[in-house]
Amino acid sequence: MSSISGLVEDEISSFFESSPPLKNKEEIVAKLNQFIELNTSRQGEKRRIVCVTSGGTTVPLEQRCVRYIDNFSSGNRGAASTENFVKAGYAVIFLYRRGTCQPFCRSLPDDPFLECFEFPDAKSIRVHESHSEAVKMAVMDQQAAVEEGRLLKLPFSTIYEYLQMLRLMATALKDVGSCSMFYLAAAVSDFYVPWNSMTEHKIQSGSGPLDIRLAQVPKMLSVLRSNWAPKAFCISFKLETDSKILIEKATKALQKYKVHAVVANELSTRKEEVVVVSSSGNVVVRRDPGKPESIVEDNLIRLIVDRHSTYIKESHT
Ligand code: PMT
Repeated sequence: MSSISGLVEDEISSFFESSPPLKNKEEIVAKLNQFIELNTSRQGEKRRIVCVTSGGTTVPLEQRCVRYIDNFSSGNRGAASTENFVKAGYAVIFLYRRGTCQPFCRSLPDDPFLECFEFPDAKSIRVHESHSEAVKMAVMDQQAAVEEGRLLKLPFSTIYEYLQMLRLMATALKDVGSCSMFYLAAAVSDFYVPWNSMTEHKIQSGSGPLDIRLAQVPKMLSVLRSNWAPKAFCISFKLETDSKILIEKATKALQKYKVHAVVANELSTRKEEVVVVSSSGNVVVRRDPGKPESIVEDNLIRLIVDRHSTYIKESHT
């Protein structure tokens, strides 16, 4: 039964009713169902499934979009977390912003990527010695995850696409119950231009300064928890630039949205440490300073997987 207020429910329904429909909805649903079926109907042990969201959503200013407002996120957190979830035996649905960081590709040079390759003669191409190990590992790990049915990648750009896809995923995962997890690392827009009040064509600069009124995007965490996937383990994130208010805001979000934990991070130190805020107390998770290749996600995902195991056990007793 729904525990969110009628007002919030109305705001959420009107957001979806006024959104431009997803272009490839049938294809996404088919891929999702196939992936979930593959990972839940295996003989022997069934896999846990996590939906990792990654990257920032955009808010278009024109229906035939030339300009948009963006939310900061490189996608590094989501990509690194995905790799760790795959290593921990999870099947991962990676819902990512087009063009952001991809799992297994973090150690490849992106600028300029073409410097990885060389032509020994006119007919062949090969990877430059200095990058061959990184490219080999990236290709092998990514291929293994996809071939074993442990990684499904689905891209989004706009806030409209992201929220519709998140709802599709939650609905598709409903029957997986406590063995499913939502790990919401994407940076989601808080304000948007409703589709119906958006101009169709490119805004003209000749008419002087631009006044835009942005409406508030309804927070979907409450409906995700109470209606879409109430049995799933749910981890949300809190990003702040002022460390003084970070923990207080994360604690409020934990109580308000009734998620299982909130990962609190401050923009400038987010690669060094995060704080996992939950009803059992706050845990500071750091990357290992003694190991240059260590990343904060190695320890973070170990902790989250542990908490998920406890949650599954408790759900079955
Ligand atoms: O990608 P990187 O460069 O590695 O950086 C990682 C990160 C800093 C982006 C990531 O660690 C992070 O903190 N992501 C969440 C950022 C964010 O949007 O925080 P928020 O305070 O605006 O939102 C908090 C939560 O509410 C989020 O889990 C979000 O999914 C949810 N939300 C937000 C807006 C909205 N309209 N509905 C929501 O449900």
